[in-house]
Amino acid sequence: MNFPGLADQYRADFPILSQEVNGHPLVYLDNAASTQRPNAVIEELARYYREDHANVHRGLHTLSNRATALYEKARAAVAHYLNAKKAESIVFTRGTTEGINLVAESWGSRNLRRGDLVVLTEMEHHANLIPWQIIARKTGAILHFLPIQGDTGAIEWSELAELCRQGNVRLVADLNRCGPKRRSRCFGRRRYRVRFLGLFQP
Ligand SMILES: Cc1ncc(COP(=O)(O)O)c(C=O)c1O
Repeated sequence: MNFPGLADQYRADFPILSQEVNGHPLVYLDNAASTQRPNAVIEELARYYREDHANVHRGLHTLSNRATALYEKARAAVAHYLNAKKAESIVFTRGTTEGINLVAESWGSRNLRRGDLVVLTEMEHHANLIPWQIIARKTGAILHFLPIQGDTGAIEWSELAELCRQGNVRLVADLNRCGPKRRSRCFGRRRYRVRFLGLFQP
């Protein structure tokens, strides 16, 4: 199998991909579950554990100060990458499930009311389903699942425009599949003032 151009270049950054599995170069696509690490990350983690590791924001000694500075530097880098207004708005969690539980429990319990719509799709992973089921039960919000077209696996985004017209959509979780092109296709040329929160899994 050939991996021309960019693929070759990026594969070389990931040492785990240099092996063969069942006689073929390893191709790894399960990134939503566990993402493989490039050399730069592996080396920096090893360096950190060898030289700087300590408790972040909970110590006064040198190593703790160093670890805290690195942690905050990473937060600022992520904020810059995501174009966030403030680094403080970046919250690190251990994974997607924990992150969505945090949003559902904090934002959801303060902002969702009986009859509000939380829009998901018919093909959500448990990480983006169970937190909303729990908060819907607590608040009386209603989960709405956008259907999937059987033949193509595409999501029926046009239904979202109709729901927005009705007005009580409060959250669309998993807009990552609705990039600008799709969004303009589903909302058309008309402008809508939407007051819902979008949640996406990078
Ligand atoms: C598509 C998808 N989304 C979300 C998750 C949950 O991620 P996490 O383990 O970070 O909570 C997984 C985990 O397998 C997944 O495969």
